[in-house]
Amino acid sequence: MRCASCLSPNPDSHRFCSQCGAALASPATAAPAWGELKVATIFFADIVSSTTHIAGLDPEQAMEQLQPAVQRMCDAVEVFGGTVVRTLGDGILALFGVPHALEGHARLACEAALALQQAFAGNQLGLQVRVGLHSGQVASDPQAVDAAIGGGVHGRAIHLASRVVGVAEPGGVCVTVDCLALAGGACEVRALGLHTLKGIVEPVEIHALLRMKSDAPDHHFHQAALSPLRGRERELAALQDALARAEKGQGAVIGLSGAAGTGKSRLCFEFVQWCRTRLVPVTEVRAQLYGYATPLAPVLALLRGWFFHMAPSDDAAAARGRINARLARFGVNAADDLALFAEFLGVADPAAAPCSLDPKARRARLLALFGDMVRHSGTSPSVIVFEDLHWLDEASAEFLDVLVRSVAGTRTLLLFNYRPGYQAPWPALAHFREIHLADLGPADTEALVRHLAGGHAEWQNVFALIVERSAGNPFFAEELVRSLLPGGASDAPDAHSLEALVRALPATVQAVIGARIDRLGATQKALLHICAVIGKEIPLPVLQQVARYLAGQIERELDGLCEAELLELLREIVGERRFGFHHPLIQEVAYSTQLKARRASLHAAVAAAMEAHYSVQPDEF
Ligand SMILES: Nc1ncnc2c1ncn2[C@@H]1O[C@H](COP(=O)(O)OP(=O)(O)O)[C@@H](O)[C@H]1O
Ligand SMILES: [Mg+2]
Repeated sequence: MRCASCLSPNPDSHRFCSQCGAALASPATAAPAWGELKVATIFFADIVSSTTHIAGLDPEQAMEQLQPAVQRMCDAVEVFGGTVVRTLGDGILALFGVPHALEGHARLACEAALALQQAFAGNQLGLQVRVGLHSGQVASDPQAVDAAIGGGVHGRAIHLASRVVGVAEPGGVCVTVDCLALAGGACEVRALGLHTLKGIVEPVEIHALLRMKSDAPDHHFHQAALSPLRGRERELAALQDALARAEKGQGAVIGLSGAAGTGKSRLCFEFVQWCRTRLVPVTEVRAQLYGYATPLAPVLALLRGWFFHMAPSDDAAAARGRINARLARFGVNAADDLALFAEFLGVADPAAAPCSLDPKARRARLLALFGDMVRHSGTSPSVIVFEDLHWLDEASAEFLDVLVRSVAGTRTLLLFNYRPGYQAPWPALAHFREIHLADLGPADTEALVRHLAGGHAEWQNVFALIVERSAGNPFFAEELVRSLLPGGASDAPDAHSLEALVRALPATVQAVIGARIDRLGATQKALLHICAVIGKEIPLPVLQQVARYLAGQIERELDGLCEAELLELLREIVGERRFGFHHPLIQEVAYSTQLKARRASLHAAVAAAMEAHYSVQPDEF
């Protein structure tokens, strides 16, 4: 092995250069190129009886027939965040959650499958497609997947998914029970029972996917199903105070920032309930996961609900009636403006003249009128709750900016929530204030877990473990408790398997945290992976030693990881900085997504670095 500092050759068994004394790089510390292990949703689609469609055609004609269809499949997948891994002559294999972990991957795959079927409905060639979905663990080589060179993904789950597609009817979508469980109640399905699939030992429970529920349960809290609110008194009081000011004409904007699962939506929900008891009208809108697949959707929802008071049952004519009446109250009567709004909201009058403005002028006019309407929105107080701004699409962001700037001095209170990665662009505005929602304290976490586990005396042994692992995040606490509920197994788990269940990482938690990790640049991600192997406490010199190939970048990248709330500075002991994970489950996700072989070589490098570091530490006594 050649020394990286002085380039002298050294025997492979040496850890330090015999010429200059520098530590020698082991294979584990070379710039990484490794695979990952993740839970993902696998998506197979193929054209029914494609051989009949291309019978009698030469290969070129066959390609001309089928290629546009395959392209359409790819488009449907990509718009919902999936990655096409392989295209076959008459179908595709795509993954949701690989190479980039994706929160809600099962749900997005279901949406994509339905969108795909819609795109093929009534096509002129009479082509019909089947889709099969399954969620499970996949080993992948991110570079191979990114480069779309095929291969690069492995695992029994892929094989299983390839069999599920055969169960689907032409034009249908089949999902396994594992995919359905991860989609979190968002799907309407018809049970197809247990199926024996070729090459798979156990029979597999399969469902036909009919449609997505427009009102997915995770979008709404149901009072009856909620555990009592713990903590958050201060934050709730701050929101109530902001409403009291808005009632006096000091409209404000509050940005509630906090990591996934800290309870942003719940706090908003509690506040909304309180507003309703005071008869203050509240409009709730949200940016959607993969918001850019449906740009402007939250703005349209806001206009329909808050401005124009449209009812879901309104047809186009009724909707136009409301638009015209409402705009008239603002003194807007020009036919062009009425047409502009009707077109924007998708209820244009086919008999009337279309708006005459060009696209750029339209947008400017819409934004100007929107601002005017917000500024003159009335004498009674109202609240707009806008959730999950971290998913907001660009076109909506433009409207949001106008909304924020226009509520100053009105009786409207805007309440936003978002995750820390989102930078609210209004810190300079006097009527904007950010509230950071921290994790719950130990007493509140314990009370929450006690409530969640209530009634299950047999869970008492793992109670402390759930508290420890959820570490103040109510969503993680709920997911860990949920993993203990019997999922089809008839036997109640014994104490040993209960502990194993709490120690396992719920796929939902893995996806939420994994998506944060996958958004990092390559260097930060590599560092985080090394930190996960080092352990709960990460002495900076040990990290520097293991990641020597990143010398000069490490401290800056660590700052980035701390800002992203993945790591934090724990303490500084005699000038030595030690870092830790912001949440224990972040370490686990960063650890468990690395392939075993990679972890093993990192463990060896970490052990050597620890030994070298502690053997040169001055005697502390
Ligand atoms: N302070 C709290 N006390 C009790 N349960 C909470 C609290 N905050 C959140 N929860 C519960 O934890 C889960 C996740 O909260 P949620 O508000 O959806 O998180 P976020 O919107 O920050 O991702 C919800 O089921 C919610 O009811
Ligand atoms: Mg939320």
